Formats: sequence, C-alpha cells, structure tokens
Amino acid sequence: MSTAAVATPQLPDQRSVKEILEQGIEAANGPIQLACSFSVEDLVIIDQIHQHKLPIGIFALDTGRLNEETYLVAEGITGRYGIGIDWFFPRHDDVEALLKAKGPYSFRESLENRHECCRIRKVEPLGRALAGLKGWVTGMRREQSTTRTELPAIETDLLHGGIVKVNPLANWTETEVWEYAKKNRLPVNKLHAQGYPSIGCAPCTRAIAEGEHPRAGRWWWENPEHKECGLHR
Ligand code: ADX
Ligand code: SF4
Repeated sequence: MSTAAVATPQLPDQRSVKEILEQGIEAANGPIQLACSFSVEDLVIIDQIHQHKLPIGIFALDTGRLNEETYLVAEGITGRYGIGIDWFFPRHDDVEALLKAKGPYSFRESLENRHECCRIRKVEPLGRALAGLKGWVTGMRREQSTTRTELPAIETDLLHGGIVKVNPLANWTETEVWEYAKKNRLPVNKLHAQGYPSIGCAPCTRAIAEGEHPRAGRWWWENPEHKECGLHR
C-alpha cells in the first residue's frame, strides 16, 4: 500500500462489489465518481452501479494518446447504459510546451521523462477531476501488479486531500473479471482479443506473448516496480 493511503479497518473480504460500493458511498458522504479507463474491470463496476442504481458518476481522463478502440468502448457504454461521462483533458499549454521541447515520444527516453508525460496527461487532470469529490472508485486489483498487492477495498486517499478511495474489485482474480464480463456481455475493448489484457495509452501499451504477466505490455521497457503512472501513488 502506498504510504500516502490509510486503509480503513478491514472488513471481511467476501463483501460483494455492491456492498463495498455502498460502504464507500457512506464513507465519502458526498459526491463520488468512478475513474474510468474503459478497462474490463471498470466495465464490471459500471454494470454493478447500473444494476443497483448507485449514485456514482463516471469521469475519464483523455490523455490525448488513447487507442481508437478505447473511444469505441466509451461509445458502447454511453449507448448501453444511457449515462454521461465527464471527460478531462490535459492543459493544452503544458502539452504544447512538452512536445515543443521534447517531441512526441520523450517518455521512451527516461523514467523521468515518462513521469513528466504522465504528470501532464494524467495526474494533473486527475487533480481537477477529483476537486469537489468526496470519494472516487477505481478498477484496480491486487493481482495486477507488485505495486498493488496490499490494495485495500476502501482507503483514505491522502494524496488527494483525504477523500475516500474505493477499489471494489481489489480481491477479484482476472478469471472472475472475465467470467462476469462474458456472462453479462459487457462491451469490452476489442484490443483484449488481440493480446492486450491491460490497456493504457497507445504508445505505452503493447500486446503480450502467452505466459507473460498481464501488465507486461504496459511501459514494457521499464521494470515492474516502476509501472505506475502517478494516478495511484
Ligand atoms: S495505470 O495507473 O496503470 O494507468 P490502470 O490502467 O491499471 O492504471 O487502471 C487502474 C484504474 O485506474 C482503472 O481501473 C481506473 O479506475 C483508473 N484509470 C486509469 N487510467 C485512467 C484514465 N485514463 N481515466 C480514468 N481513470 C483511469
Ligand atoms: Fe504519456 Fe505514456 Fe504516460 Fe500516456 S502512459 S501519459 S503517453 S507516458
């Protein structure tokens, strides 16, 4: 767990997604939204929000480097559930300055440059997305990465002013996520079928080979312990 997050006392892990979300809503005691990257995990949560009519909105960070297929998932979601998405973009002056100074692929050159791009395209917009919220929901799971093994289902996000952060699928396995997606015919990203289990920005995500870790295709040139973009740490 990040040093900037404090877990609330652990409740039994057999809580359903609905129960965790309801407890998150109660703990937040104010506006709460799902941060949606249109991953299969986020779609499971959206489906649960819709099924149980939970008062949780959706925001998405458009980094400017997303895959075409990801926008098609957004279209699928809005069509299927009739919900709106609050989109947040990076500050245009920051992006212009970055490209002018370092070109469109600076993130490949060093970890520092990669963090700079993520900060401009993801972290700064996230700050604006969370302003005014009392809580946010993510699709993160413990199994996903060495950086997420102790992820609690509900935590206090000290990185973002102490608001509530809810990770209702923290305990789910990849198999459980896909079983749910198939059973409920969720409009998943077409890239999954092309070998992309985890999808972020287009130039920082590649397909994986059989047997590789599901996040091996994210920032594939970096070590596993660096594979966070600043949204969550
Ligand atoms: S990342 O930090 O490595 O990019 P990952 O792709 O695993 O994150 O996604 C974990 C969760 O972070 C998603 O389920 C979603 O809640 C949130 N998230 C990631 N990227 C975005 C995005 N572009 N917009 C909104 N939420 C996002
Ligand atoms: Fe930039 Fe890649 Fe981070 Fe996207 S994932 S914000 S393109 S460095």
